[in-house]
Amino acid sequence: MDSMSGKIVVVTGASTGIGQAAAEAFARDGATVVLAARSEGRLVRIAADIENAGGRAVPMAVDVTDRTAVFEKMKEVAETLGSIDVLVNNAGIGLLSPVEGMDPEELKRIFEVNFFGLIWCTQAALPYMIRQKRGRIVNISSVAGKRALPHISAYCASKFALQAFSDSLRMETAEHGITVTVVCPPRVDTTFHDTPLMRQKGQRMSAPSISAEYVAAEIVRATRKGSREVVVSFYGKFFVFFHWLSPRLLDFIMKRLWMRLAMKKTKKAGTEDQG
Ligand SMILES: NC(=O)c1ccc[n+]([C@@H]2O[C@H](COP(=O)([O-])OP(=O)(O)OC[C@H]3O[C@@H](n4cnc5c(N)ncnc54)[C@H](OP(=O)(O)O)[C@@H]3O)[C@@H](O)[C@H]2O)c1
Repeated sequence: MDSMSGKIVVVTGASTGIGQAAAEAFARDGATVVLAARSEGRLVRIAADIENAGGRAVPMAVDVTDRTAVFEKMKEVAETLGSIDVLVNNAGIGLLSPVEGMDPEELKRIFEVNFFGLIWCTQAALPYMIRQKRGRIVNISSVAGKRALPHISAYCASKFALQAFSDSLRMETAEHGITVTVVCPPRVDTTFHDTPLMRQKGQRMSAPSISAEYVAAEIVRATRKGSREVVVSFYGKFFVFFHWLSPRLLDFIMKRLWMRLAMKKTKKAGTEDQG
């Protein structure tokens, strides 16, 4: 794709973070963006801001775990806007928990949103892409989908599953002119880390992060090129390369790093308690 001009781009998880930034970047590039998430008020405001800036945007309130609703909404998009050219499966949640104490309902929720939600959206958009003999499916994974980290095992597993699903889908859909891209960002500074499921003793874990806008630019670039996979940023690439080079050494470093982060947080919480 030389430009996104005139293309219909559906972005899930567009009410904040990477999804919002990606939707804004696609709109600046000339696409009509369909903003999908549950927070309707936020979607309406973001769509209005995009339109005020000269772009085209449509809010679409939907829970990606509701398969029936996803199919209805995708049909509505294809019928009213004429096609679905790009689907960015970005909606996702994290879970920070040691395996030992993991809540079964929270574990299921991770897979319902990150894995099954992505499949429902893909299945709902695919028939329109196959009919028009073109399309781009862009699945937002993580470096944690290339290399697991401690205390986010369920999240990592959901992203590894996403990778396998994407690799399989790519082979199935190539004959229809559909490309499948996997985007793997490192840690990004978004509200992802503020949700109750991602807080450690009520606190946000601190670590170096990149911006959602940086990731959004990579998503647009990869979509245009129809890339197979993109690991975002030097840090992300180095992390994945390090795993390939010496997984045992990286295990050792990540264990040490995690303990240091956890101890820092515990100390801080203790100091605050005394205060
Ligand atoms: N932040 C990071 O460090 C990081 C790093 C690597 C990869 N990622 C991946 O990037 C993607 C976006 O993350 P983010 O950092 O932008 O997170 P975020 O700021 O928390 O945004 C998550 C988005 O997903 C939507 N969402 C959650 N559950 C949903 C559901 N059931 N149905 C529809 N939409 C739902 C949320 O909207 P509503 O609540 O309005 O529904 C929100 O728009 C995720 O797949 C995440 O795994 C994030």
